[in-house]
Amino acid sequence: MSVTPAAAPRRPADELPSAAAQRTSALGPDLDALRRQDPELAEILVAELQRQSDGLQLIAAENFTSRAVLTALGSPLANKYAEGYPGARHHGGCELVDVAERIAVDRARALFGAEHANVQPHSGSSAVLAAYAALLRPGDTVLAMGLPHGGHLTHGSPANFSGRWFHFIGYGVEAESGLIDYEQVRALARAHRPKAVVCGSISYPRHIDYAAFRDIADDVGAYLIADAAHPMGLVAGGAAPNPVPYADVVCATTHKVLRGPRGGMLLCGHDLAERIDRAVFPFTQGGAQMHTIAAKAVAFGEAATPAFTAYAHQVVANARALGGGLADAGLVVTTGGTDTHLLTVDPAPFGFDARAARGRLSAAGLVLDTCALPHGDSRGLRLGTAAVTTQGMGEAEMASIAELFVTALRADSEPGRLRGDVRELVRRFPPYPDR
Ligand SMILES: Cc1ncc(COP(=O)(O)O)c(C=O)c1O
Repeated sequence: MSVTPAAAPRRPADELPSAAAQRTSALGPDLDALRRQDPELAEILVAELQRQSDGLQLIAAENFTSRAVLTALGSPLANKYAEGYPGARHHGGCELVDVAERIAVDRARALFGAEHANVQPHSGSSAVLAAYAALLRPGDTVLAMGLPHGGHLTHGSPANFSGRWFHFIGYGVEAESGLIDYEQVRALARAHRPKAVVCGSISYPRHIDYAAFRDIADDVGAYLIADAAHPMGLVAGGAAPNPVPYADVVCATTHKVLRGPRGGMLLCGHDLAERIDRAVFPFTQGGAQMHTIAAKAVAFGEAATPAFTAYAHQVVANARALGGGLADAGLVVTTGGTDTHLLTVDPAPFGFDARAARGRLSAAGLVLDTCALPHGDSRGLRLGTAAVTTQGMGEAEMASIAELFVTALRADSEPGRLRGDVRELVRRFPPYPDR
C-alpha cells in the first residue's frame, strides 16, 4: 500500500532497481562531480545511503525526507547569509530568501493553527534554549519530565545548559502503568512554584494531556512550554492532539515524523512573538540557515496534503501493529502499547539487557535506540515507525518486523543470519525508489 507522496507503487522483486541505482538515486545529478573532485567523501555519501536503504531504520527520531526536501537542502540557498528576519536583515541580497522564510512561516502557522511561528532554530535543542531565554531568567525553577523517565537533555540534564542555568524539578511516570502521573505533576508544581512547566519527552508513547498541563501551569501561575519534538508530525497529520491551543510556547523539531530537514521551530501567540524572535536572533543564534528554512517550507507544504494525513495515521497504525506483535511474543511493551509513532519495550524476558539486545538487533539489520524504562534502573529499547512507513510499509510488514525482532532476541538464534531476510524485505520498499 502506498501511503505517501514519496512512496512508489510496490514492484515485483525482478523489477526492483539495481543496487547501484538505489545507491545513488537520492544523491542528485551532482554526485558525479563530487566523485571527480572528492571521491573519498562521495563514497561516504553513497555508502550512507546504502546503509539507510539496506536495513530497517527503526530509530524513533528518524525519517526519510522527500527528494524535494533534499534538493532545497543542497541548493545555493546554503550560500546565503541572512541574520535577522524577513524585511529586517543585517545583510544585503536577502530579497529571495526573505520570500522563502515568509513562505515557511505562513505554512507553519497554517499547519498548526498558530498565531506566530519562528522557523530559524537550528535544532530542537536550539528551539528549547530560545523558549527558556524568552520566558526565564537564570536560576528560575522549571518543572519538566525527569531524564530517568524520558525527559530530554534540555529538560534539566546537569550536562546541558538547562541543568546548569536553571533549577529543574523532575516529574515522572507511574512505575506500573508507565503513564504520566498528573497528580504528582500538580503536587510538585504547588510545592515548587516553577516559573515554567515543560511537557514533552523523548520516549513517552502516549498522547500528552495538554489541557491537564495547562490547568496545572495556571494553578501556579507558570508558563507552559510544550516540547513536541516527537509528535509534531503526527499533529500536522491530525493523528495527535495539538499543543498550540494550550501552551504558551511550542518547541518542535522538523526532522522526525514531520519528515523535514534537521532543524527546529517555535510556535506561540502574538503576545510572545517578539520575545521569541529576539530569543532566537540575536540572543541565541546568528545567521539563519536559509537552505534549511526553504527545506522546512517544502516539508510543511508536504505535511498539509491529504497524503501526509494518511501517512501520519498509518505511522500510528503501524506502531500499534508492531507493538502488538512484540507483546504477543512476550516482550514487555511499556504502557501496554502506543498512541504515536513510538514504542518502548523491555527485552528482559528474553534474557538480554537493552545494550545487548540492541547489538543483536543491529547485527540482524534492525537499527534502534536504548531508552529509560518507567520501572527500575534497567534500560529498554525505543523504536518508531516513521521511516518504515515513509518507505510504504503497512501492518503486514510490521508483523514481519516483529517476527525478525523476536527471532534476533532468541538466545539460540544467530542474528547475523537474519540479515538476508531483512534485506529481502527492505529491497521491496526502497526509501528513494529509482525514477
Ligand atoms: C523532546 C525533545 N526535545 C528536544 C530534542 C532535541 O532536538 P535536536 O536533537 O534537534 O537538538 C529532541 C530530540 O530528540 C527531543 O526528543
